[in-house]
Amino acid sequence: MTIRTPALKSRLPNVGTTIFTVMSALATEKGAVNLGQGFPDFEGDPRLVDAVTQAMKSGLNQYPPMTGVPALREAVAKKNQAIYGHTYDANTEITITAGATQAILTIILAIVHPGDEVIVLEPCYDSYVPNIELAGGVVVRVPLTPGTFRPDFGKIAAAITPKTRAILINSPHNPSGMVWTKEEMLQLQELLDPTDILVISDEVYEHMVFDGKQHESAARFPALAARSFIVSSFGKTYHVTGWKVGYVAAPAPLSAEFRKVHQFNVFTVNTPVQHGLAAYMADPKPYLELPAFYQRKRDLFREGLKKTRFKMLPGQGTYFQCVDISAVSDLNEADFCKWLTSEIGVAAIPLSAFYGNGFDQKVVRFCFAKKDETLNTALERLAQL
Ligand SMILES: Cc1ncc(COP(=O)(O)O)c(C=O)c1O
Repeated sequence: MTIRTPALKSRLPNVGTTIFTVMSALATEKGAVNLGQGFPDFEGDPRLVDAVTQAMKSGLNQYPPMTGVPALREAVAKKNQAIYGHTYDANTEITITAGATQAILTIILAIVHPGDEVIVLEPCYDSYVPNIELAGGVVVRVPLTPGTFRPDFGKIAAAITPKTRAILINSPHNPSGMVWTKEEMLQLQELLDPTDILVISDEVYEHMVFDGKQHESAARFPALAARSFIVSSFGKTYHVTGWKVGYVAAPAPLSAEFRKVHQFNVFTVNTPVQHGLAAYMADPKPYLELPAFYQRKRDLFREGLKKTRFKMLPGQGTYFQCVDISAVSDLNEADFCKWLTSEIGVAAIPLSAFYGNGFDQKVVRFCFAKKDETLNTALERLAQL
């Protein structure tokens, strides 16, 4: 008998260690300020932690219903009604997930048949492409306009074929911080009208839109909402990214298919966290105040960046700020980020990491979801540039 682990034929042969892991490891090794990975370095609201603790202590620790704790689904429905004016039925149209990442994979597994095409707008969040590949789908990459990151409807229209099953959109947008306008959402709605294309609308940064603008959720547009899976994440909204709880809102027939896969994927999601979130969501203030909270950090960070030779891109939403590095360095984005981490002590992420072909436009992304002192330390270091 030989002791032997059989060789595997990878289902994701092109996936290796991501730049996020590489940069975080380098940041730790070099003692750099980590503005690379997108998560806060401060705590969430203690009232939320108390609400979860209370749920756990009161014995709410067994499997909840497959679709999520009813009170949390109702709280999500109420929020969508209040801010986007769209009524989702809490029983049949909202499902609690283990974060947005699980939600997106589950949606894709539920709707994409082998050979179906799915349009992604690059640069895009790194899980989309492997998710489509796992479902046997064909990834159709359409670039957002370089420089502005606005959707190019000519290019999107040209990418649509009879095999197009879905389009994945993300506003507010990671990594660029760009926010879709009402006109753009209407254009998408119009473009899809004669088709059966579904929309996966990744809205995890829905409560981070600045300068008095509103988030144009797909839920605001009835014909889009009727064909959309809307994904959000409590982790982003409540500064608890490690809790990995989110939700999917979609019309009942779409939710029914989603739930078939969800049931055999995770089945259910952490019970006490759901109860805690439900209680906490009774007060809308935390998410209503989030734009002002992050806008102040954005402004602090942008003010400091003015003292560097980076050229700032607009920061309309999310907790990311992109900068053009051309005036500072001749290095490509990835090498620049490694250099910046090692030599200057600030970690950033190259935008090329969000493109399949590694497209390099000399732009890197910083995350400003950090304590003011962390941002100030990073800015002092960047001021040398
Ligand atoms: C655009 C986008 N979608 C989805 C996610 C994943 O969210 P979650 O942590 O809830 O899985 C992230 C997290 O960085 C993101 O930036």
